[in-house]
Amino acid sequence: MIKRVLCIGAGYVGGPTMAIIAKHCPGVEVVVADINPERIGAWRSGTPPIYEPGLEAVVREGLGRNLHFTTEVEAAIANAEMIFVSVNTPTKTYGHGAGRAADLQHVEQTARTILRHARGDVVVVEKSTVPVRTAEAMERIFRSGNGQARFEVLSNPEFLAEGTAVRDLEEPGRVLIGGRETEAGRAAVEALVEVYAHWVPRERILTTNIWSSELSKLVANAFLAQRISSINSVSAVCEQTEADILEVSRAVGADSRIGPLFLRAGVGFGGSCFQKDIQNLVYLCEYYGLEEVARYWDAVVTMNQYQKRRFVRRMITAMFNTLAGKRIAVFGFAFKANTDDIRDSPALEICRDLVNEHAHVCVTDPQALDNARLALVDIDRSVAFELDPYSAAEGAHAIAVLTDWEEYRNLDYARIYASMEKPAFFFDGRNMVDAERLHGIGFNVYSVGRPPHTTL
Ligand code: UDX
Ligand code: ADP
Repeated sequence: MIKRVLCIGAGYVGGPTMAIIAKHCPGVEVVVADINPERIGAWRSGTPPIYEPGLEAVVREGLGRNLHFTTEVEAAIANAEMIFVSVNTPTKTYGHGAGRAADLQHVEQTARTILRHARGDVVVVEKSTVPVRTAEAMERIFRSGNGQARFEVLSNPEFLAEGTAVRDLEEPGRVLIGGRETEAGRAAVEALVEVYAHWVPRERILTTNIWSSELSKLVANAFLAQRISSINSVSAVCEQTEADILEVSRAVGADSRIGPLFLRAGVGFGGSCFQKDIQNLVYLCEYYGLEEVARYWDAVVTMNQYQKRRFVRRMITAMFNTLAGKRIAVFGFAFKANTDDIRDSPALEICRDLVNEHAHVCVTDPQALDNARLALVDIDRSVAFELDPYSAAEGAHAIAVLTDWEEYRNLDYARIYASMEKPAFFFDGRNMVDAERLHGIGFNVYSVGRPPHTTL
């Protein structure tokens, strides 16, 4: 029975995952280590450095018991029996494979640090999303040099979604563990199964070979992203034909073989996973000479880019073919509701396009404003920021809803309308509001994939 668990990387995945393991395994000491002292300081203080509903309570509970945070990565490695690797694996921005391949420098550095400091029998668990066969690279590093430990590498991809991380971790649809089909590999898999079995029913813990596990994570995200690109592609057809995407989604999703979830048309998917994982999959296919397969999945990303550009183009056309000098209130910058994460958020590109049109952009978001400010400073210093949506909309020619924050559904839109320039435009990039009601107030409302409600 494992008693000392370490996670390297205290981000959106590592932090919440370890807090839940600590909660359900009171007999296990759980340490989370990161090289970023601010992040560790925040976790330690009981106020996580990321916004995630319900997380703070679980972390605070754990801190007084068996959950620890440290910057002493090396010492923590020396004391661990099981090490989760949850460092960031962004898309490469440089050199060979730039824009497609995963940047594995943090994973490799971590493997080398583990090799230098680990002691005894250690199970190393890939948590970060990684390209298929990364486990092999780790194994080769562990076999190199003269480490003092014996390693077994597992793949245990995380399927939590941000904004619902605590619930997803508490009640996962499945836990996936891939390992080598050797005696030592099977023992390592069983050790990790035992950890999860503290709160996850055994039948939901799937064990596979290590490559299936790595590939399944990429494929799960590719399928989800594909659904979004599919419905978004149909939204473009709806806008030309007066079909309504909400009605089409409902009708199509009522088929139990298709199902109703992940069929919300919008400004496109964002987040640190979907685009990155598809690009990873595409890169993998190209590597193996599977050109047709690569092009097939690449189209999911192409459609997502198109959807963002299409949204801005529709704004320009509706607003008399010019946005120059017009104030646009951007409602929501996070890539989805209930998170402060803006990685690959559609708002990034949409705001950049609006700035290129010489619009005066004012961004509001209940949680992601600090991150938005950091990201937009490079694009244009004229972008304004307001925590209060009413202030953001004041004097604006248009509102563009880019994140599905629940609070945007029921703001006092009569008050907002009164404070705006006329004609006032409302571009609902998440199909959040009651378009007819807003039209009744006076707005010209454009939803995604729906007939517009305009008086012009
Ligand atoms: C995703 C996967 O859901 C999760 O299993 C995996 O572990 C990580 O990647 P996440 O990126 O956190 O999680 O959020 P998700 O809820 O999947 O949303 C991703 C993006 O798709 C968001 O920008 C969201 O707004 C968008 N989306 C989602 C839609 O546009 N329409 C939908 O119907 C669903
Ligand atoms: P994710 O969404 O996958 O959790 P994040 O970027 O939120 O990704 O978190 C990854 C974390 O990993 C960051 O806090 C970063 O500081 C940490 N990290 C990166 N490289 C190392 C390393 N070599 N040692 C320890 N921590 C690392």
